[in-house]
Amino acid sequence: MKVAIGADHGGFDAKEKLITYLKNKGYAVADMGTNSSESVDYPDFAEKVCQEILQQKADFGILICGTGIGISIAANRHVGIRAALLYNDETAALARQHNNANIAVFGGRMMSVDDMEKRLDIFLNTGFEGGRHLRRIEKIDVYGGCSNVGL
Ligand code: RB5
Repeated sequence: MKVAIGADHGGFDAKEKLITYLKNKGYAVADMGTNSSESVDYPDFAEKVCQEILQQKADFGILICGTGIGISIAANRHVGIRAALLYNDETAALARQHNNANIAVFGGRMMSVDDMEKRLDIFLNTGFEGGRHLRRIEKIDVYGGCSNVGL
């Protein structure tokens, strides 16, 4: 399984640790930056990770900014991207089961790396339930004005 990860300066330290954690678990990881703690703009890194998924170069994405909020908003402007801020273990599971989320989002200044690692284990090993939840996520694309539903 291949995972694309990106962060702004608020998520840089966590990103570096998560890359090591995921590689040690056998995941292929594409590091889309940023590459230092210097101030950058989170939409640039949301864009890079979203494109990896939309172009089917990665199965899942991980995005981290200070709060997880700005980078979630940026990612969710893309049709076919469902980015979920995983604020506890239960939402890590439900984001996959109910929302078929394809990007896990974290707040680098709000959460410990230990918590992020645990939530990633859950997120990457939980499947989508489909059924009524498929109908609901298809409606997101329909109401958003997109005809090519799903992904
Ligand atoms: C950057 O200072 C900060 O605004 C950003 O990381 C994020 O928290 C935005 O939502």
